[in-house]
Amino acid sequence: MRRDDVRNIAIIAHVDHGKTTLVDCLLRQSGEFRESQLRGDCILDSNELERERGITILAKNIALPYAGRKINIIDTPGHADFGGEVERVLRMADGALVLVDAAEGPMPQTRFVLSKALECKLKPIVVVNKIDRPEARPHEVVDEVLDLFIDLGIDDEELDFPYIFASARDGFATEDPEVPGDSIHPLLDLVVEHIPGPEVEAEEPLQMLVTTLDWSEYVGRIAVGRIMAGSITRGQQVAMIGRDATRQEKITQLYVFDKLGRAEVDTASAGDIVALVGLEKVEIGDTICDVEAERPLPRLDVDPPTIEMVFRTNTSPLVGREGKYVTSRNLRDRLIKELERNVALRVAPIEGTESFAVSGRGLLHLSVLIETMRREGYELAIGKPRVITRVRDGVHEEPFETLVVEVPPEQTGPVMELVGARRGQTIDVTTRGNFTHLVFSIPARGLIGLRTRLLNATQGQAIIHHRFESYRPLEGEIEQRANGVLVSMTGGKAVAFGLDGLQDRAELFVGPGDEIYEGMIVGENSRGNDMVVNPSKEKKLTNMRASGSDRNILLKPPRQLTLETALEYIAEDELAEVTPTKIRLRKILLS
Ligand code: GTP
Repeated sequence: MRRDDVRNIAIIAHVDHGKTTLVDCLLRQSGEFRESQLRGDCILDSNELERERGITILAKNIALPYAGRKINIIDTPGHADFGGEVERVLRMADGALVLVDAAEGPMPQTRFVLSKALECKLKPIVVVNKIDRPEARPHEVVDEVLDLFIDLGIDDEELDFPYIFASARDGFATEDPEVPGDSIHPLLDLVVEHIPGPEVEAEEPLQMLVTTLDWSEYVGRIAVGRIMAGSITRGQQVAMIGRDATRQEKITQLYVFDKLGRAEVDTASAGDIVALVGLEKVEIGDTICDVEAERPLPRLDVDPPTIEMVFRTNTSPLVGREGKYVTSRNLRDRLIKELERNVALRVAPIEGTESFAVSGRGLLHLSVLIETMRREGYELAIGKPRVITRVRDGVHEEPFETLVVEVPPEQTGPVMELVGARRGQTIDVTTRGNFTHLVFSIPARGLIGLRTRLLNATQGQAIIHHRFESYRPLEGEIEQRANGVLVSMTGGKAVAFGLDGLQDRAELFVGPGDEIYEGMIVGENSRGNDMVVNPSKEKKLTNMRASGSDRNILLKPPRQLTLETALEYIAEDELAEVTPTKIRLRKILLS
């Protein structure tokens, strides 16, 4: 049975193609809001509202009343997928708005989310936005989207997807880009007409898959998902079928999407997307059901973490303490808070120290966290990334990942070479239209440093995703040394990293404008080896000069490194087991 009073749709858009503006426009034109609620550029960023409700508003999730129906709009993460989030979120929807800039056309990064949406059988509606731009080429862009669908292997009969032109900025949608409209309603009409209402089993016992977790300091853990069968009532005792056990808890509060956030309700039924409070032990992937009728849905697990780094408060006297948060307690509280929403992350205190082992889905995942904390004002010392191995039945095992790389066909050579050199095995190569889709199986340690290299080798065109595959017996040894990396707030924005445990303690400070902090010096010692010397060690410098090695003293600034790249360089030394770190450091500086 299908419900006709609800539509659940996801928005898929490349960064800057206008998602926020479109959602804003939809809200304004739904006429449900007082101007006071709409103040500011963006309705969705209102912290006040969050406080008022005592419950966090999920990024861009909203609900609109339209033509007697409720349209739930689900935001999809636009960035890399950490732990399978995109797929889980898409499972809640029946259709997708594919938003494309009328001048830029569809971007390669949109492909991944779009292909996942099509795998989940979502009905797409293409919205060609920004048609007011002088550079807009609306009809061409529709053709480009059509090509994209063909590239993704859509059959001819399914290619007949609806599309519409819009200017979210000017607040209209229109079927003819030459004739601007006066409202966004044509888009909503298309949604109601083309996207099916949710398929439900209203009369069956309750079934709901937990797809996302949220958290608020007022109510604690919040389980979000779509009810597939039956209904839920506030105060109800429910069973949560977990991976290993089934637990029971009581739902103390029940919310549905509502306009800018969530509204508390007494009951919700199949087809609704709900947020449940009171389930302290719930995990992503659990099925929530009646205590008398346990019917598990197929599990959608979060990929396990594969890379670990040690975090501690940065106490290096060389780096200084200019951040706002400098105590171990600050660090602990912040990491615990992060855990509530960053579901693919794990944090464990390291006994007898003030450090924490933080593990995640890869370097990108962890560097996003470090970068966020750095901007918030945390002083951090970060250990080298290491791969999480395990021992099962006496066998040492390491994680393998399924790596998907998409590139223009002429660039498959360099990609296969780079991945092959890291023990990646080719599983599948398919070329459709303008893109070749390569699938590999690769040890997680081989992914470290790979992203930057793939991007360099393909002029930035490679699109890279990876999902956990399995643990497999370890081949060879992974040497894991414990040198440290420092990430500091010195100078407000600077990233600094350095190395302990070398013959000389060395510190490198890279400023936001590529400048080196503290007059860093690199040269050769008397035996001709590369050295990195702390400038405070004057005697050593004098000796170096005396031995005639000042011709090698560094004069060039290093090229700008992103935090992720810096971490990659440092981690690679360890994992490649070849390059002494100090030489690598010199290469960074001189390249
Ligand atoms: P992120 O929040 O970075 O993911 O971007 P987004 O996709 O939400 O895009 P956003 O709505 O922030 O819009 C990006 C830029 O495009 C902003 O400067 C908008 O003002 C502009 N923009 C959005 N819609 C339109 C439009 O219809 N016409 C024009 N000319 N500009 C638009």
